[in-house]
Amino acid sequence: MKESRIAQIGPFKVNVEAGKTYAWCRCGLSKNQPFCSGAHEGTGFKPVVFKAEATETLYLCGCKRSGNKPHCDGTHNTLKKG
Ligand code: FES
Repeated sequence: MKESRIAQIGPFKVNVEAGKTYAWCRCGLSKNQPFCSGAHEGTGFKPVVFKAEATETLYLCGCKRSGNKPHCDGTHNTLKKG
């Protein structure tokens, strides 16, 4: 698998808790978007693991093309829909 799958053209809005560790799906195959489900096995992709610094709402990239993973940076706006 060379390119990650586009899970969604646009970010996932998620609430995270300070101090908790999260694994953002990098390959796009997880059925538990935007988080890793282990579906990357054998794809060469690994999730981006991060610790939430605050209890807050984050916008995590759904297109998997962000330049600031795991966060949405607007790159999805350059992708064609449909
Ligand atoms: S959803 Fe990927 S950059 Fe916005």
